[in-house]
This record gives sequence, C-alpha cells and structure tokens, in this order.
Amino acid sequence: MNVGIDKLGFYTPAYYLDLVDLARARNEDPQKYLVGIGQAQQAVIPQSQDAVTMAANAASPILDATNRQQISLIIFGSESGVDNSKSGAIYLQNLLGLPRSARAFEIKQACYGATAGIQMAKEFVKNHPDQQALVVGTDVARYGLQTAGEVTQGSGAVAMTISANPRTLALSTNSSVYSDDIMDFWRPLNRKEALVDGHYSNDIYQQFFLKTVHAYCEQEQCSLTDLQALTFHLPYTKLGLKALRTLLPEVSAAQQTQWLSEFEASRVYNRQVGNLYTGSLYLSLLSLLDQTTGLSAGAKVGLFSYGSGAQGEFFVGTVQPGFRDTQRRSRIEAALAQRTRLDVDQYEEWFTQWPTFNTANVTIDPAPDGAEFVFTGVVDNKRQYQRRL
Ligand code: CAA
Repeated sequence: MNVGIDKLGFYTPAYYLDLVDLARARNEDPQKYLVGIGQAQQAVIPQSQDAVTMAANAASPILDATNRQQISLIIFGSESGVDNSKSGAIYLQNLLGLPRSARAFEIKQACYGATAGIQMAKEFVKNHPDQQALVVGTDVARYGLQTAGEVTQGSGAVAMTISANPRTLALSTNSSVYSDDIMDFWRPLNRKEALVDGHYSNDIYQQFFLKTVHAYCEQEQCSLTDLQALTFHLPYTKLGLKALRTLLPEVSAAQQTQWLSEFEASRVYNRQVGNLYTGSLYLSLLSLLDQTTGLSAGAKVGLFSYGSGAQGEFFVGTVQPGFRDTQRRSRIEAALAQRTRLDVDQYEEWFTQWPTFNTANVTIDPAPDGAEFVFTGVVDNKRQYQRRL
C-alpha cells in the first residue's frame, strides 16, 4: 500500500513587496536580488494574518466531506507559533471544524517542522489506512529592516492531507536523516526577528544536502539517475540551485539538463512569495507539480528538507497519476497575480506593526485582506479568530 500526499493547498497574504523596489531603497543592484538571490517578490503579511489563519486559509479549500470525517491527526509545523503553550493545531482544528476525536499538536524544529509532521503522519496512516492526517507548514519569515536577510523574508502556509493510495505523491518508506548542534539561525524567545549567520547557514545547508542525498542512495542502493527531479527547502531560490549544482558533476549531461529544467518549474511560486520556512519545500513541490512540462506519473522526485539548528532529511516521492490539478494551479496563479503591491514605506510600516502578540487587548481591522480566516485582535490576552466567508 502506498502512503503519501493526497492533496496540497497553499495560502499567502494578498500583499507583496517588489524586490526591485527594495533593492533601490537599499542601494543594491536589483540583479543581486533577482539573480544572485533568485527572488523577485516577497509576501508581506497584514496584521489580520498569522501562522494560524494562514494555515486555515491554506487547508480549508482542499478539505471535502471525506477528509473532514477521516482526519484524525492534525500536525501544525511552525516556528512562528502564536502561543508558548497552546498549539496552533487546536485553533486550526476548531476553525476548520475538524473532528474533536483528532490528535492535534504543534511541532517546532525551524524549517523542518512540516517534514517531521509528514513522516509521523505517514507512519500513522500505514497503521490506520482508513484514516487521514492534515499536516501544515505555516510561517512568517522575518529578519529585520535593512538586514542582509531582509531580501529573503516571506510568509505563507502549505497544507497537505496524508492518506493511503494518495493521488499526488507516494512517499518512500525510508529516508536519510542528519542532525547536529549548529548555531546558523535561531530566534530567542524575546525576539520577533530571527538571528542568522547567513553565509555559515548556506554552507551547512549544502553540506547537509550532500550528506543526506549520498546516504540515501547508499542505504537504499539506488542511483541518482533514478531521480527525474530534485526539490529543496528554498529560503531563497538561489540556494536550492547552488545545492543542485553540487550534484551535477555526478550525472550525465542529459540528466543535468532535465534537473535544471525541473528546478526552474519548482521555483516559480517561491520566487514570488519568499521564504515560508516550514512550508518552503512543499511550496516548491507544489510549484514543480503545477509547472512541470517534463514529469509524468511514475517519476521519482527527491525532496531535501532542512531546518536550521540543524536537521536535514532526504527522501523520495513517486508522482501519482492524479498529480495535475488545473483548478489548483489556476487558483494559485490568480491569487499571486491579484496581490496588491506595497511600496517600501508601507511595507516598513506594516513590518513594524506586526505581530500583535504581547498586547492584552487590541482590535485589528481585517477588512482589506479578503481572506476566509482572519485574526481580529486580542481580548483579555486571548487571540480572536473569525471565519468571514
Ligand atoms: N548581480 C548578480 N548577482 C549578484 C550581484 C549582482 N549585481 N551582486 C551580488 N550577487 C550575488 C553574489 O555573487 C552571491 O551569489 P553566490 O551566493 O552564488 O556567491 C549572491 O548574489 C548573494 O550575495 P552576497 O552573498 O554578497 O549576499 P549577502 O551577504 O547580502 O547575503 C544571504 C546573502 C547570506 C543569503 C542573506 O540574505 C541571508 O543571511 N539570508 C538569510 C539566511 C538564509 O536564508 N540562509 C539559508 C540557509 S538557513 C535555512 O535554510 C533555514 C531558513 O529557512 C532560514
């Protein structure tokens, strides 16, 4: 029996910053951002969205009556959680009207949280094939105004249902995992923005990629030539390309061309949204599945997950016959095209206002966002959420 990703949903806020505007404001050559970093735009989160609402907005459109009946595990992968105790999964369960009998909790290991969730969900479904899991990766990537990391910010959520006989991607039974105590990126409890040793983090990411991909091939006695495409955690799309290039000398010229072409398909969405932390690898997978012209059912796709601190994992998915979803693709393309472009002054103002965690009482005007689920404020230290549509 195959187990894997049955459906994928994606949400990103309805506002973005054009990175040519940001480059001009920061006295940088726009080509550094567009080519050197590989990003064109970044999502800007309004006050009425957070990790919980983005997760709900990503998941809601993909859930049908069968999902709602069969989901008995809800895993919320995030490093932008809204409470130090209560998990985002419980808020999500309530907003989506999922069964009270479900097990719901939050996982944190930097950008790796959703992958940990998927692997747990896979084992759960293997043991309970009549049940399903909902796994979300939802985050707001913040480094700070006028920092080197500013160009690699972003926000959004990817939601996935994990089931037996999945329509989209069957997951390999095994994966290769590598972890070590590394201070490349972290966020102390008192901080709204991440701290990062940027160049060091890039080096570690690439080292973990090579270690895990080679360990996977050795352990599973498979060859790189079995893989038609590779997808990456994409904090910014150039980093995935750099990692991919380290493997190119190991394969034929024809395979290099194929991998590079599929990589372009896998970064279309990420280039426009920026870093989603936990959701980034799965947004890249979504981009590949929607935008590929070369893949068909049966193709094998390598997935490299990386969470600073650090944890890396490499595993393989087999593309299933139902992987193309033209409605999903149209919905995502329309959502990205219809976003409102903020100028740099407005982005800076919104950046400074968000988030509103430590306020005992505050009211947020959710009017401009248009999202199904919104955060409306804090009453008596309790966060308030609403479904609007
Ligand atoms: N035209 C074209 N390319 C240009 C250029 C120009 N005019 N000017 C510079 N470039 C290129 C550089 O050559 C460089 O390319 P290579 O990486 O291929 O050498 C690239 O643009 C970036 O230039 P710099 O290295 O000089 O950029 P920087 O010092 O300002 O910082 C960064 C870049 C380290 C990525 C920084 O943005 C950062 O710290 N980002 C956040 C950290 C991060 O995302 N780390 C990823 C690994 S950690 C992780 O994965 C977890 C997570 O999600 C955070």
